[in-house]
Amino acid sequence: MRKPFVAGNWKMNTDSISSVELVREITQGCRGLAGERVDVAVYPPFVYLAPAVKSMGSGNISVGGQDLYFEQKGAFTGEISAAMLKDIGCVRVLCGHSERRHVIGEGDELINKKVIAAINGGLLPTLCIGELLEQRQAGQTEEVVRRHLNKGLEGLCDERVLAVTIAYEPVWAIGTGLTATPQQAQEVHAFIRGLLGELYNDDVAAELRIQYGGSVKPANAAELMVQADVDGLLVGGASLKAADFIAIIEASAG
Ligand code: 13P
Repeated sequence: MRKPFVAGNWKMNTDSISSVELVREITQGCRGLAGERVDVAVYPPFVYLAPAVKSMGSGNISVGGQDLYFEQKGAFTGEISAAMLKDIGCVRVLCGHSERRHVIGEGDELINKKVIAAINGGLLPTLCIGELLEQRQAGQTEEVVRRHLNKGLEGLCDERVLAVTIAYEPVWAIGTGLTATPQQAQEVHAFIRGLLGELYNDDVAAELRIQYGGSVKPANAAELMVQADVDGLLVGGASLKAADFIAIIEASAG
């Protein structure tokens, strides 16, 4: 049985005061739920990670980085390693978010190195995958998702891949208000689970969690979560309002 996993990707938002307040409100608001009935994580900007970890107190949510670099240390100006994230109390990290792929220009090979570096560094990576609008319209959704998954997980054996969460985020649904319908999400999630079965085996496919992301709101969280292969949600905009994010967590706990 896969425990629901709801995460908030804050992207380049908040400041030193609001980030700490947001973590506090979320931690308090989902006491009794987080860690018990649903896993909860937040991904603040790098500079607010350490204060976020501190302000979490004894709350049962985890904090993660929005990205990392694959090298362990050295002359890589501006980059952050897995060890640095771990050092300040991060547990998780996002790899290959669509904005890193399409705005910053990251490719599958680099993203794969990041996933591997995260696992080597003791972090739990979320590999983000998903098609652009023109790719969906051209009927290439499965091809794109297959490539992102195959390349993103390259070199990971059965045992190590269990550290990974997959996030399916159709790019056309991110920040646009255009959520995939529950049926569209389920269709691709089932396809992804089938691919995991091909790449690994049925046990791995049954165990790995697949989150949906793209304009998730309190109003659509429950209908997405009841889909058989939707195991969680990766929330952008709505995770910046504690009340909305908590409502999404509650809806996901069933
Ligand atoms: P929105 O929820 O703002 O559409 O963002 C989704 C996302 O990119 C989460 O990683």
